[in-house]
Order: sequence, then structure tokens, then C-alpha cells
Amino acid sequence: MKQRVSFRCSECGFESPKWFGKCPQCGQWNTAVQKSTTSNRVEGTTPSIVALSELSQRLEPNRLSAGFSELDTALGGGFVPGQIVLLGGEPGVGKSTLALQICSAVSQKGLNCFYVTAEESLDQVALRARRVRCANQKTLMIASSSDVESILDELHSCHLVVFDSIQTMRSVETDGYPGGVLQVRMVAEKIIERCKVLGTTAILIAHVTKGGDIAGPKLVEHIVDTVLYFEGERNTDIKILRTMKNRFGPSGEIAIFEMTENGLKELRGFVKTDPTSQHIGNCVTCIIEGSRAFIVQLQALVSRSKVSARRVSNGYDITRLLMVMAVLSKHLKIPLEFHDVYVNVLGGLKITDTAADAAVAGAILSSFLEKSVDVAMLGEIGLDGRIKGMSRLRTRVEALRKAGYLKAAMPVSEGVNGIDVVQFKNITDITEILGVSHRDARGTVGKS
Ligand SMILES: Nc1ncnc2c1ncn2[C@@H]1O[C@H](COP(=O)(O)OP(=O)(O)OP(=O)(O)O)[C@@H](O)[C@H]1O
Ligand SMILES: [Mg+2]
Repeated sequence: MKQRVSFRCSECGFESPKWFGKCPQCGQWNTAVQKSTTSNRVEGTTPSIVALSELSQRLEPNRLSAGFSELDTALGGGFVPGQIVLLGGEPGVGKSTLALQICSAVSQKGLNCFYVTAEESLDQVALRARRVRCANQKTLMIASSSDVESILDELHSCHLVVFDSIQTMRSVETDGYPGGVLQVRMVAEKIIERCKVLGTTAILIAHVTKGGDIAGPKLVEHIVDTVLYFEGERNTDIKILRTMKNRFGPSGEIAIFEMTENGLKELRGFVKTDPTSQHIGNCVTCIIEGSRAFIVQLQALVSRSKVSARRVSNGYDITRLLMVMAVLSKHLKIPLEFHDVYVNVLGGLKITDTAADAAVAGAILSSFLEKSVDVAMLGEIGLDGRIKGMSRLRTRVEALRKAGYLKAAMPVSEGVNGIDVVQFKNITDITEILGVSHRDARGTVGKS
């Protein structure tokens, strides 16, 4: 085998055949380490070649339930043996709690699980286990170690292993500090190599900050099978898990959880809303995320500005809010330019479905006119003020009906069963639904 000499940056892993003082990739000085390698070609390794027809006769693997039906659906039916899942999220969102509850559900079936903690003590894990009521699981082993090789040596007939977290694990086979690019990549590669052979599902927990400035977890996204992101605002108990990538099921799916005293509880299909309360400035809608419908409550507050008008949006795209407001100002001739407008999606959900536009307009008008809304609103608002239809109407209507919302305003009424439909075609119709003729709405100035 041919001997080669190259230089590698100990910070970011950049490689060059020439020595460098400053790393051209990460900009760090004096990080070049000489590396003596052999040619990549290894003699004696034979590729596995099998006819596709033979492969397709193999049985579908049994999926492993995560213990949460919404999460199983978001995964495409549960975990596949040997699946490598990256579970990312901001500090404190509930990653360890979710992983421990998944381990608990799997071990309750008598299957072996391994929970590896490299950032908490065994006592801290025990405390969480008591909190989520899984302290008596006999097939759930807890290991405290940051040495990935020694843990992988212990994984025999194990169905699920959790590494908490990938940034605190280290491999003896490379340099660099834990959490650095070199270590994160090597640790992930080692886990993938071993778990694929053993058929063990692995969950790799990763911390991701709001700025996304930790390069490590991003770097391994392409080598894992599934990427789940857990998100939620600090001030709410609602947490949302998104499948950002999935080799064994759909991506773009979400599962909604509520963080409680006893751990995470899944919320099926809708965030807590109350069909019987109709407070001013509130409007309910139904959005589609992935393949499923979710009921969400929008809130708006419109009040006279003291100096320059403020626009604040939480959970709804600010550019879209400015567009909806411009359409309202232009077509209804209401003086929104002299008002502060705040919009909030209850529960900390972030929505991208444009079918929520009508409900945003409904909530703004409800606050501006000081009239409550007694219907859910669904529809996309165009620049010409028209309200357009949306996809998956039946799914949305069914979700509204199940959540107890029996009256909805939407641009179409055909084929809608089970709820009363108030048809609206234009934003001027929204004021009429609120009991104010759109001509009267012009003269109204928000009193708040
Ligand atoms: N007794 C409790 N009642 C309600 N919520 C709790 C309780 N104890 C902890 N929590 C919630 O659990 C969250 C921490 O969960 P967890 O440790 O699983 O998060 P994490 O994402 O793993 O955090 P880290 O980034 O620190 O590892 C806290 O932010 C808090 O909201
Ligand atoms: Mg944690």
C-alpha cells in the first residue's frame, strides 16, 4: 500500500496535502497536524452483491413502537431495526425526557435498551426516571460513560440505544475535543457502523442552538437515517417534534407533546383550545402539517400606537402578516397604519400553512372591531382581497368536527359534511361574519 503524508486541522478536520499555518476552512491558527495515511484502497475487502429480486423477498422488518402513537405515525410506523436517529433540539426542550420515555416504552415489552449518559450522573437519570414513572424497568440499562468504543462493545442483543449526547461522547480513534467536528463525526460513524451490523436502533441526542452555530450535529445529518427536531418556546409547555429527514417514512410530519410534571404527554391532533370560549381577538383555524391536520388558535391584539406602529408576530410568518394587514388596510380602508398589531399562535406552534391567513385576518378584525368570532376560519388571502380554497378540505373539516368546532367560514361549501359552513369569498365578508358591515368597519377606530 502506498504511503501518503497529509495535514489535518485538529479543529475542523480540513485536510490538505500541504502544511498550512491558518486553516483555510475554520480560520484557526497552528492547528495543522501531520497525518500519515495509506492509500484508501484496502485489499481483501469484497463488496456485497445481491440480486434485487432476492432482496425483495426478504420480510419487512418489524417496527419498534416508540410508545407514542403520534410519534410512531410521524416515523412512518415506528423505528426500523438498525435505524439511526438524530434527535436535535435546544437546551432544556425535553430531549432526554423524550428519549427516556421511549426507552421505557420499549423495555416495557421486555426488549433490551441501553441509555448512555455522558452529561448527567446516574442519580440525575434516576431522578428523571422517577419523574416519568419508569424507574422499575429491568431491561433498561443506564450507562454513564463518554467512551463510545467501550459502550459499543457492550451492545449485545440490544434493541434500542440512546446516546445523550453525541457532543459529549468521544472516540479514542481521533483527536479533537468532544463536541468538535472531528469527534462528533467519528462518534457518529462508529455508532452507525456497529448498530447497522447489530440491527440496533440508535437515538443520538444533539444540542442545537437557535443560531444553529454548532456545526457538529449538522455535519452528521446526511449520514443518519432520520433527523428529528424537538422545538418549543421556553414559556410554554407545548413541544413539537418534526421529522426533518426520514429514510424509512415520510418527512415533514409533526407530533405535538405537552411537558407535564410526569414527563411528556402527546396531544393528539390539536393544541388545547376551547370551542366554547370566544374571546375578542381570538380565531381558530385548521392547518395541515405533513399528512395531518391540527387545530390552532390565533390571537391578535390591535391597539393605537403611541409613536411608530409596531408589528410583532409569534408563530406566524411576519412577512405574511404584513401582507394580510396591507390587504385589510387597502380593501377595508381601515387605519391599521396607526395601530400596533401583535399576533400570536397559541401553544408556541409555528405555522406555515397559508390556509391560516383568514383566521389571522379574523383575529385582527376581531380585536380592531372589538367583536368576538364564533366560527373557525379557513382560507388563503390573495393580494386582491379574495379568499381562496385550500388542499385537504375534508381532513380539515373532520379535525374541526372532532375538536368540537361545528361552524366554520371557508370559501367553499361543496362536499363539506358534519359542520355548518359560512361561505366567504372576500375579506370584506369577514367583517360581516363579525356582525359589522364592511362600510361601518372603515369608520371604526380601535378603542383599545
Ligand atoms: N417536575 C417538572 N414538572 C414539569 N416540567 C419539568 C419538571 N422537571 C423538568 N421539567 C421540564 O423538563 C425540561 C428539561 O427536560 P430535559 O432534561 O429532558 O431537557 P433536555 O433537552 O434534555 O435538556 P438539556 O439540553 O439540558 O440536556 C425542563 O426545561 C422543564 O421544562
Ligand atoms: Mg438532556
